[in-house]
Amino acid sequence: MDLSNASAIVTGGASGLGLATARRLAARGAHVVLIDLPGSDGAAMADEIGGKTSFAAADVTDAAAVADAVDTARRQAPLRAVVHCAGRGGTVRVLERDGSPGPLELFETVLRVNVIGTWNVLRLAAAAMAAAGRPAVTGPQVAFSGKVLVEREQCVLTITISRPEVRNAIDAETAHGLAAALEELDSDPGLAAARADQRLARAIAANGPLAVAATKRIIVDSADWPRAEEFARQREISEPVRASQDAREGALAFREKRPPRWQGR
Ligand SMILES: NC(=O)c1ccc[n+]([C@@H]2O[C@H](COP(=O)([O-])OP(=O)(O)OC[C@H]3O[C@@H](n4cnc5c(N)ncnc54)[C@H](O)[C@@H]3O)[C@@H](O)[C@H]2O)c1
Repeated sequence: MDLSNASAIVTGGASGLGLATARRLAARGAHVVLIDLPGSDGAAMADEIGGKTSFAAADVTDAAAVADAVDTARRQAPLRAVVHCAGRGGTVRVLERDGSPGPLELFETVLRVNVIGTWNVLRLAAAAMAAAGRPAVTGPQVAFSGKVLVEREQCVLTITISRPEVRNAIDAETAHGLAAALEELDSDPGLAAARADQRLARAIAANGPLAVAATKRIIVDSADWPRAEEFARQREISEPVRASQDAREGALAFREKRPPRWQGR
């Protein structure tokens, strides 16, 4: 991933896991914003890392302070990453050794930092990241986000996804572009058809037909499954595929570095 034109937020960046992460991201060329408590070593650590690294003093539970830090990051470059390491441990007893009840305030503080703080950082960063990932609309007919090309001809919407580097995997930018394109499709009843990238379709079709059919069935059927039964129901569909001749052929072909010869049984 090219991070040289991206900003990244690392919370708890003045110490430990956060500091180590910030160093790695800065070495990859990202504009790193360290978020940590005002009394922390954040400023000194940002200076030490140098380059495009800066410090934003904020308690992760403070909505306004984290929003300011996120703004600092997005002003430097589109926000592409957040690594949330701020947190605290602490042993809190239900019952003290002398028989008195454990402390409510400390319990609340630990939960507040670790749970509310996490939620606060993720929600604010996610909004900024989503804004950075939206496709730029370049005209009424065509929107292009770099990885997803959307073209419209009368009632046909063609969505082209650039070839993913790793088989069927898509990155966040592509997913955002695709989601926006599908939103357009959903919101317009005049669009009769969408054509996904044929290369992606070919990549899916290259998988064993039993596995593709089972996966499709699981995706379609699972919407109605009670949560407690999800694994068992999924196993009912996937176990026969695991036990099939095609499953053995897939493993063998992988070992022999050749395309598999699917039989459909
Ligand atoms: N290091 C480990 O092996 C390990 C294992 C499991 C869990 N954890 C958890 O991962 C997190 C990071 O671990 P670490 O070893 O880097 O810890 P650390 O104590 O070295 O770093 C945590 C950083 O978070 C900052 N911080 C604490 N509260 C904050 C708040 N309210 N707002 C902003 N910043 C705040 C601290 O100032 C500190 O710089 C901690 O929550 C820790 O409990 C760590």
